[in-house]
Amino acid sequence: MDKKVILSGIQSTGNLTLGNYLGAINNWKKMQEDYNCYYMIANLHTLTVRNDPETLRSNTLNLLALYLAAGINPEKSSIFIQSQVPSHAELSWVLNCYTYMGELSRMTQFKDKSAKHADNINSGLFTYPVLMAADILLYQADLVPVGEDQKQHVEITRDIAERFNKIYGETFKIPEPYILKTAARVMGLQNPNAKMSKSSTLENDSIFLTDEPEVILKKFKKSVTDSENIVRYDEENKPGISNLMEIYSAITGSTKEDIEKEFAGKGYGEFKTAVANCVIEELKPLQEKYKELKSNPDYLEKIYKEGAEKAYQVAHKTLEDVYKKIGMVWL
Ligand code: TYM
Repeated sequence: MDKKVILSGIQSTGNLTLGNYLGAINNWKKMQEDYNCYYMIANLHTLTVRNDPETLRSNTLNLLALYLAAGINPEKSSIFIQSQVPSHAELSWVLNCYTYMGELSRMTQFKDKSAKHADNINSGLFTYPVLMAADILLYQADLVPVGEDQKQHVEITRDIAERFNKIYGETFKIPEPYILKTAARVMGLQNPNAKMSKSSTLENDSIFLTDEPEVILKKFKKSVTDSENIVRYDEENKPGISNLMEIYSAITGSTKEDIEKEFAGKGYGEFKTAVANCVIEELKPLQEKYKELKSNPDYLEKIYKEGAEKAYQVAHKTLEDVYKKIGMVWL
């Protein structure tokens, strides 16, 4: 039987956080054996905010190095840069014409981002989910592994695909979001009520995958908790400690009950150090591999060229079907 298809991506906006790792990339690695996987670097999506071109180019290549360092294997999965497969931008335009302003204006990410970038609410920011729908539908993906914050975008993708299929007949596979139970939403260390994010303006709020061990330890030690001093899971009343427990659980595989037992009678200081140490150990091999890959641009170029060719074969086939169905004159 054919393997199910997976597609996912991360924006190349700079340093990845522990949230991106636990919520996305670490799970991608595990899925490579059982699924036919497409892992994309979403560089077109980054244009919704202003970027320095050189920085964007190097962020894109760094993200590729990071995918590889995290164990995404180009022999098993297709790894590619979004802008190098033109079908994404092409299908996105078509799907724009099958998406309503009303549904886009309900997207929470649009509301959040337009509040954050009030001086640059461009139409790309508004139609961002449509490009994401194109990414997913081009590969006839069955599953889209993402963190909780992207669920709404997968849902609108389903609506767009269903609408299109209803008019033109079976064209797109209807994808499902695939969200893990643990660490689907890693929170900030300084503000545990908001997700850990690359763009957090709070100091010590986010762990970056390239942070040095001392920095990781320092950030965890400074993390905001509560005054109870009992390691106990209670998301509502103890968001800081609960978040640390989520992180510890995602990495060590211990359940919340195991963790409560392991740290019974021990204070927060000891727990914070244990969480920091498991993160440091988890990231160590990734960081070493990352440094090695960054010093090998020829290898990275080979990977993205092969990845784009492989992805294009599949993406173009879907686009051709769409163009024919909607009445474009085909070459
Ligand atoms: P992006 O770049 O914001 O995030 C990449 C992935 O990381 C997950 N994530 C988190 N998970 C848990 N806790 C957190 N604090 C956390 N922060 C981020 C996100 O849920 C996501 O899975 N629009 C997408 C990129 C994209 C895409 C796609 C994803 C473009 N096309 C097609 C899937 C399919 C985005 O901005 O993710």
